[in-house]
Amino acid sequence: MAQFQAAQADTVIAPSLLAADFARLAEAADAVEGAVDWLHVDVMDNHFVPNLTLGPPIVKSLKAATDIPLDCHLMIERPDRWAVGYAELGAYNVTFHAEAADDPVALAKDLRAAGAKAGLAVDRDTPVEDYLDLLPEFDTLLIMTIKAGFGGQEFIPAMLDKVRTARRRADSGHLELRIEVDGGIAEDTIAAAAEAGADAFVAGTAVYGAADPADAARRLRARADAARTPR
Ligand code: DX5
Ligand code: ZN
Repeated sequence: MAQFQAAQADTVIAPSLLAADFARLAEAADAVEGAVDWLHVDVMDNHFVPNLTLGPPIVKSLKAATDIPLDCHLMIERPDRWAVGYAELGAYNVTFHAEAADDPVALAKDLRAAGAKAGLAVDRDTPVEDYLDLLPEFDTLLIMTIKAGFGGQEFIPAMLDKVRTARRRADSGHLELRIEVDGGIAEDTIAAAAEAGADAFVAGTAVYGAADPADAARRLRARADAARTPR
């Protein structure tokens, strides 16, 4: 019955700096200030994924350059060794990949102890069922809607089955869990992800590929909000 439903969490829009000009990251943050909730920072180590992006020194500089909460998505090997460092630099949320972690629950506890939200990511080929029982230990579940590694790929609708599965578990377990989708999120795909149960949306190309990134982020939010409105 409607009156017993928990209040729906506000939509989170998280532009991915991967699609911005890496020589102008502070300007990219300023361009979306006031229109977004988190800034998504894709850390890639050329081992867990073939691509190589940025690491702690740049996250440190970003933290000093913007007040937008930083959502660090670590596509790296050995997150047990490196992830807490991002929390210590002041990242709001630190998400590591399930495929790379030795002990995801221990690492989530360490992240929370260091003052960050703890996120678990599952890549395209990883079943979410294997991790459902761990979700009470996490603040964020990131479901890749592409294969992790590069921006600008095409959204894979079949990944939304994982979102639906995770949403059912989060709701039945009364978990305070953000369900975040990442990859190919744009004006023509965000509604389907929102309907499936996602409430946090990473968008690289759709925001920084637009002439007006803040306006693009606002349009994405409007579409997500409309799709999330209970009918
Ligand atoms: C890719 C990254 C994504 C990427 C998304 O592995 O995790 O965050 O920036 O880019 P788009 O939105 O262009 O698919
Ligand atoms: Zn990402």
